[in-house]
Amino acid sequence: MSEVLDVGRIKADFPIFQREVNGKPIVYLDSAASAQKPRAVLDAMEWHHRNHYANVHRGVYTIAEESTAAYEHGRAKIARLLNAHSTNEIVFTKNVTEAINLVAYAWARANLRAGDVIVITEMEHHANIVPWHILAAERDVELRWIPLTPDYQLDLSGLDRLLDGAKLLSVTAMSNVLGTRNDIRPLADAAHAAGALILVDAAQGVPHFPVDVRAWDADFVGWTGHKMLGPTGIGGLWARAELLEAMPPFLGGGEMINDVRVDGFSPNEIPWKFEAGTMPFVEASGLAAAVDYLNGLGLDAVRAHEKALTEYALRALEERFEGRLSIYGPRDVEARGGAISFLFEGIHAHDISQVLDEDAVCVRAGHHCAKPLMRVLGVPATTRASLYIYNDESDIDALVDSLATAEKFFAR
Ligand code: ALA
Repeated sequence: MSEVLDVGRIKADFPIFQREVNGKPIVYLDSAASAQKPRAVLDAMEWHHRNHYANVHRGVYTIAEESTAAYEHGRAKIARLLNAHSTNEIVFTKNVTEAINLVAYAWARANLRAGDVIVITEMEHHANIVPWHILAAERDVELRWIPLTPDYQLDLSGLDRLLDGAKLLSVTAMSNVLGTRNDIRPLADAAHAAGALILVDAAQGVPHFPVDVRAWDADFVGWTGHKMLGPTGIGGLWARAELLEAMPPFLGGGEMINDVRVDGFSPNEIPWKFEAGTMPFVEASGLAAAVDYLNGLGLDAVRAHEKALTEYALRALEERFEGRLSIYGPRDVEARGGAISFLFEGIHAHDISQVLDEDAVCVRAGHHCAKPLMRVLGVPATTRASLYIYNDESDIDALVDSLATAEKFFAR
């Protein structure tokens, strides 16, 4: 029983947990890939569809104005959650991948030249690697990598040297593979001292602990709705207003303009300058409900719950599979969140997850879109269990029992 969250009550808010797979209740341990949705989020989107569905920022009739108000209400909710200075610092995108690409295409291409440096880390997701590889190839920009320590944290011993000449430090708030949480403020201070900006991939941060973009002193922060109980198809970029003002548009099209003539166009104000075409406005209503749900629990409580459950899970895995299971990530739960990657010696990660599915235990196996990290770890793939607000000790017990079955099965 969690001491900080009433998981029984929370679970009852999620319709998916009413169904079974293979005659067993679902044990959902894949929230790092995508979180399940509470009824409040589903209801908010249905309400939008049923009551004031119309495109936003276009019609001046009643339901179009209501729809626009709901969309902008979603923006205000996320702005408050992140402690943005103002709502116009929130640009809606499809997801974090698009948010980082926005920075790579709009900010970096306007500001970086051959010989400039971007610093990333060995624990990044492909979303925070490939846009920089593309830019590096196009502009002859140098990509430098912060390595890892033996306990799966960032090795900052050479940070000043790596940041020398850098224009951007781009780093994850929490590794989707290792669970490692990075202390952003000192990284931001180091980047700024070197004359660089800092981008934070907060895909695994915003859902799991309080994020305050001002306390971080960040410049760009990407986040996504579907990992924080909200819908797919909506995420965003927070950036300081003066950066957004100075950046050229990314995608061109409807509504991102102020005027279009045969000889050119002038862009809209921020944030709409970056929101071309019909945006996911129904999803913004779902996102607002997700923010309300998380605020109702309190993100400090969410973090405390996940920390306690991660400790329980690490101890349970260590005790049951002593010496036979490798866990990739910091042992100290202060330094990590609830994405737990592991491997049994001699058993492929995918085989494990298939056997677990027979017990309705949902985990992810693979490279987790972090192939450079897999190379550092010296493995092709891991199995990953990732925790959230609707998980408790019974889910961990089910995972461990099912892993024991899998181990026995492959030992035959
Ligand atoms: N980035 C997501 C994950 O780690 C999809 O599974």
